[in-house]
Amino acid sequence: MSAIAINPVDRAVRFYEAPIGKKAVMAITGVILFGYVVGHLLGNLQIYSSDPGQINRYAGFLHNPANAIPLWAIRAFLLLAVVLHVTASVQLWNQNRVARPIGYVKKNDVPASYAARTMIWSGPIVGAFIVFHILHLTVGAVLPLQDVNSNPVTPDVHYNVIAGFQNYGVSAFYIVAMILLCMHLYHGLWSMFQSMGISHPRYTPLLKKGAAIVAILIAIGNCSIPIAVMAGLLHL
Ligand code: HEM
Repeated sequence: MSAIAINPVDRAVRFYEAPIGKKAVMAITGVILFGYVVGHLLGNLQIYSSDPGQINRYAGFLHNPANAIPLWAIRAFLLLAVVLHVTASVQLWNQNRVARPIGYVKKNDVPASYAARTMIWSGPIVGAFIVFHILHLTVGAVLPLQDVNSNPVTPDVHYNVIAGFQNYGVSAFYIVAMILLCMHLYHGLWSMFQSMGISHPRYTPLLKKGAAIVAILIAIGNCSIPIAVMAGLLHL
């Protein structure tokens, strides 16, 4: 007989209540969202195909009514990941604030990079970007887009992306958001390794460098699209 046996739900709740539990949730959901960002970038790079129909066939496949159930299941899964990621980050931030209400007297005592210090606002700005981005290129509510509303099954993504980025203000906002996303991914990736206890004088600098390279490649890939449109390299 064990009076102190804890059921698995209680154990999970207790684990989550500790900072490490929240960091684990942030790491798992962060990896899921990172996977989406990489997959989405690879899909978007089809805009450079010499065949303008290429990216539209890809979008047509995603929008095919036969794929509606998996599509909505993935959307719901990603939304859940975003909600958990944001909730855990806010709770962790609150927990840290309560634990250290006065804060450090000298900010330099904290070995925090620029990316680490900007985490708290790069996250919300990337979140705001995603809302704007869906209204812009999925819903077509920001600027009138050719086919989004008239033919949602086979949207003319090639047209929408190029026409969308011909607006310099929109392109500038995307580029700023991509740079913030890059810093967010860089810090998120490498602090995930720290939280998992992967810290070693020889490997930590390598992990940091690896995280920076991956984040910068993603930013270059994403920023290249509005830049190529504004430079006239991608046109209708
Ligand atoms: C220049 C960079 C980007 C381009 C050209 C781009 C392009 C697009 C396009 C064309 C769509 C609509 C697709 C369709 O309706 O078939 C879309 C949807 C979306 N994008 Fe992006 N995107 C970019 C960056 C990003 C980034 C960095 C994120 C996340 C941080 C993101 C997240 C999303 C989401 C969540 C959707 C909605 C997907 C859905 O409808 O289920 N995008 N994007």
